[in-house]
Amino acid sequence: MNQHLRPEPVPFIDVAAQRDRLGKSLGEAVSRVLGHCQFINGPEVAQLEAELAAFCGAKHVVSCASGTDALLMVLMAKGVGRGDAVFCPSFTFCATGEAVALTGATPVFVDVDEVTFNIDTASLKRGIATAIKLGLKPRAVIPVDLFGQPADHDAIGAIAQVEGMFVLDDAAQGFGASYKGRRLGTSALATATSFFPAKPLGCFGDGGAIFTDDAELSPRATRSRRVMRKGSATS
Ligand SMILES: Cc1ncc(COP(=O)(O)O)c(C=O)c1O
Repeated sequence: MNQHLRPEPVPFIDVAAQRDRLGKSLGEAVSRVLGHCQFINGPEVAQLEAELAAFCGAKHVVSCASGTDALLMVLMAKGVGRGDAVFCPSFTFCATGEAVALTGATPVFVDVDEVTFNIDTASLKRGIATAIKLGLKPRAVIPVDLFGQPADHDAIGAIAQVEGMFVLDDAAQGFGASYKGRRLGTSALATATSFFPAKPLGCFGDGGAIFTDDAELSPRATRSRRVMRKGSATS
């Protein structure tokens, strides 16, 4: 290899290139919103949710302010709180465990597989046993589709079912990827994603969404979104 060759650095996130490519249509879309003034949950949001649902095959999509909010909305909608154990992989972005801690529940970190870096199912089983010994109630597991690579959802779902837990897939880094021929968004009771600019589907700012086929969870998550907006408006 030529040690003297110094290639130009490639920017990790080049939002300007994306903006240039979208060009005029971006300005027109912003002008449309400024024209009708429905800035929050206006018609574009409903259109985005419908297009996201069609893309990944989920029946219900609830968009929100960030990937962290998306995780939190599902946990709130399921009534997760103090005394509950929620299992997270120990190799993830901090928001996975942060969302759990915000509900008052205990994030229990379990090991990751040395090849995929995704949650290790043998360690998950050990984590559940430890949580029970500590007097916590196993409520949920949050597998993370790290670096775009789906977790082992079938194996995780089977463990969760035996333990009476629900699965919340953290697909912040994996939206658009497929697991066994199906796009992420339908591999768990609920899937959360982030539209942070560096993510597979980035926006110009913060954004997120949840995906579910569960007709009861969807309106509950929408209510959690309302509660969170009110909370931030008064703080
Ligand atoms: C695995 C994972 N979960 C959750 C999040 C949180 O998303 P956001 O930054 O939109 O709150 C991120 C973002 O970096 C992430 O990588």
